[in-house]
Amino acid sequence: MSGFLLTIEGGEGTGKSTLAARLEATLEEKGIEVVLSREPGGTPEGDALRGVLLGHQLAPETELDLLLAGRAHHCVTVVAPALARGAWVILDRFIDSSLAYQAGERPGWNQEVLALSRLAAGEVWPDLTLWLDMDAAKGLSRAKGDASFEQRELSFHNRVRDGYAQIARNDPQRVKRLDIDEMDADAVFEWALNQLEIQ
Ligand code: TMP
Repeated sequence: MSGFLLTIEGGEGTGKSTLAARLEATLEEKGIEVVLSREPGGTPEGDALRGVLLGHQLAPETELDLLLAGRAHHCVTVVAPALARGAWVILDRFIDSSLAYQAGERPGWNQEVLALSRLAAGEVWPDLTLWLDMDAAKGLSRAKGDASFEQRELSFHNRVRDGYAQIARNDPQRVKRLDIDEMDADAVFEWALNQLEIQ
């Protein structure tokens, strides 16, 4: 695959979507083809699954199966073809979200979640991951609050954060962390441009 896959990760209310949209605009201004997408979602079928996932409290087993179904379809129909034609793909959440959230709900699931996600994603794997890290309570207070995950207890969201920290420790070359507790959106954007070595 000749394109570049950037994933943006983090807990609730960390401003991932805002950053993703700004990066998309900047890259497009430079004449680069960019596909901005998200998980869950990214396809009409995936958006339908997103509605189920965000609208209901489900068991982590059910969540994982729905997420993987959407991921496989998204990777096969959108992400892999875009990368194959040399485009940049920016994903607002990807495999690391499953590791942080679903394995956060079921400690000890890491290897299984990773293996199943890799099966669903085929050849697709991020070249670079930007982790926007923030105190979980602060992030939750900034989130809309109506989706199923946002309604879970703070202890769950703290485990999600610990999960991301573990992922970053395991793969420091790929996963770059920014502590955004005291940062505004412009500063986060500047940091991301530096990570991407874009002027
Ligand atoms: P979003 O609102 O940031 O787009 O994310 C929707 C929710 O989906 C968010 O609360 C995290 C959750 N999620 C998982 O639990 N596992 C996953 O693999 C993905 C992609 C998202």
